[in-house]
Amino acid sequence: MTTSTAPSAGDLFAQVLRQDHRADPYPSYARMRRRPVDRLDDGSWLVSGYREIRQLLHDPRSSADRLDPQNKIPKAARSLLMQDPPLHDQLRRVVTEEFIPRIMGMRDHLGELVARLLDAHIGDGPGRLDVVADLAYPLPVTVICELLGVPPEDEALFGSLARRLTRGLDPVDTQTEEELRALDEARGELVAYLEGLIAERRTDPGDDLLSGLMFHPDPDEVMNPVQLRVTLGLLLIAGHETTVNLIANGTLALLRNPDVLARLRADPDLATPLVEEVLRYDPPVQMSARSALADIDIAGTTIPRGSRIRLMLAAGNRDAMRFDDPDRFVPDRADNAHLGFGGGLHYCIGATLARAEAQIAFTALARRLQAPRLVTDPPPYRENAILRGPERLLVAFDGLSPDHAPAT
Ligand code: HEM
Repeated sequence: MTTSTAPSAGDLFAQVLRQDHRADPYPSYARMRRRPVDRLDDGSWLVSGYREIRQLLHDPRSSADRLDPQNKIPKAARSLLMQDPPLHDQLRRVVTEEFIPRIMGMRDHLGELVARLLDAHIGDGPGRLDVVADLAYPLPVTVICELLGVPPEDEALFGSLARRLTRGLDPVDTQTEEELRALDEARGELVAYLEGLIAERRTDPGDDLLSGLMFHPDPDEVMNPVQLRVTLGLLLIAGHETTVNLIANGTLALLRNPDVLARLRADPDLATPLVEEVLRYDPPVQMSARSALADIDIAGTTIPRGSRIRLMLAAGNRDAMRFDDPDRFVPDRADNAHLGFGGGLHYCIGATLARAEAQIAFTALARRLQAPRLVTDPPPYRENAILRGPERLLVAFDGLSPDHAPAT
């Protein structure tokens, strides 16, 4: 007789952090959801049900301080993502006021950037493209650097710093001593670079976002130098390391579902709901965290005050209690209130920009690539568990139509 013991919440959480589960963590998430709120042996709580995650994202008793024992950064020097009201709201207001107007009216420019990136691959016939290196990564990098006022010649330096720093978002116990040391080094390099950029703008302001943040009209809201630096760092990392996964995960879903690709080619308006479905089905940010400021009663249990809480956004997005047929990719899914951009006070500031970049990228790929197909399925994945996405996404095609060619 065989006895089977169900894996514990700890086993399942460890699984989704492991590289060999990176290509498909969804079966582990499905098992987690059998107990939508569960305690791990280290005393933290794993939350995997849609309703429960949403409740906690909106609950004023859940703090954005992750209580990460490894986080040595003093509280005042953390970004708004890790702050609670009232400081969070004050910082967020300044960023929103400066960020949102600068991304309005950007669609034509985004279209030109995508066209230019794809044009580099126009050849006589069959070709290959790495959607990550050739499109999904350079597009958001160029956009965020332009917005912030990072000179084009520094983009490459930033790219490599951002890649090294995102690994730091993963739980520390999944990283080696050497990786942690490399991370500290990268942080030091980023701080030095940002301080240099800020000093330049102080004497020579432009009309970029950095200058806007530094010389914001309301003197009470101007950030102090540390807040300015960490905000800039947050926007750069967020701009570099999330949209790349949205574009790559979405391209992967399209190539695995050729009928959807054909529909998008015939109907570019499908791009709008389709991007929402990618954010639900295979979200670029798989999980987030909070801590309990008070005892919180949820799903028939109590998360005690002071506990760390892990919110498994990607698991909530596949919850059958909320979404019909959740494991199916449905490009025009109705009522798609996914958790891909979080929710509540910390809802993603860059959501509008990320959506526009992805919509334009998918439409261009569908319209221009002739007979595209995946070279490797599944593709190799990056090590990161939280900001999860392919390392490379090789696509072979028979030809590349010029930009603005009519759909065939
Ligand atoms: C597909 C791309 C993106 C995804 C999936 C994404 C996802 C998220 C998520 C899930 C959160 C909430 C985290 C939490 O509550 O703990 C968040 C917050 C945030 N995102 Fe994004 N993001 C994306 C792109 C961007 C871009 C392009 C920017 C800006 C350049 C950006 C800036 C931010 C900022 C500043 C916050 C913190 C907001 C706050 O704490 O109030 N994001 N994002």
